[in-house]
Amino acid sequence: MKSRQFKLGPMDNFSYLLWDEKTRDAAVIDPAWQPAKLEEFIKAENLLLKCVLLTHAHPDHVNGVAYFTEKDKELPVYLHEADRFMLEYRPPVLKPLADGEVLEAGALKITVLHTPGHTPGSVCFQAGGGVYTGDTLFVGECGRVDLPGSSPEALYDSFVKLSALPDGSSVYPGHSYNGDKSTFGVQKEYNLYLKYARAGRREEFLKAVV
Ligand SMILES: [Fe+2]
Repeated sequence: MKSRQFKLGPMDNFSYLLWDEKTRDAAVIDPAWQPAKLEEFIKAENLLLKCVLLTHAHPDHVNGVAYFTEKDKELPVYLHEADRFMLEYRPPVLKPLADGEVLEAGALKITVLHTPGHTPGSVCFQAGGGVYTGDTLFVGECGRVDLPGSSPEALYDSFVKLSALPDGSSVYPGHSYNGDKSTFGVQKEYNLYLKYARAGRREEFLKAVV
């Protein structure tokens, strides 16, 4: 599997394309702001877009979904049900995500990790040795938990879950804050929130996130 990171829009958001090199089956994660740039790459690489994956429903991560689903009304869009209430635009084919589920999009296999906290339906996608963490985990940081539907307690549990991922897994965040990518090995050492979660230091985590 190959992947490409795209920094798009005024908030340093990342969209990602994942694809299988042989079949050209592709998935887009969090298409937003400048979807035409993603489409340009899809066309140039002869990719076959099979689905849209959403880490959560905040507008800065989903405002490019309609660009794709208006052109292909059968294109499935995956979002955890707990974030549906935030979605302003309803794609024609909206599918739920469950924790631990393995999505098959053509030849691509993507594992879903439900990681609530930033939003109730936040997820991370695990594929090809990388974890696409949305606004749950950033390089050296964690997502905001002062927004409607946020929960510091849920984020702690999600960070405990993430702290069990292999050191060699790449971290591909939803924004370019402090850096564009990292690994879990590095984040376990330098990300205060992941360190607290890994050590079971819940009270300190909860004080630090607010
Ligand atoms: Fe967000």
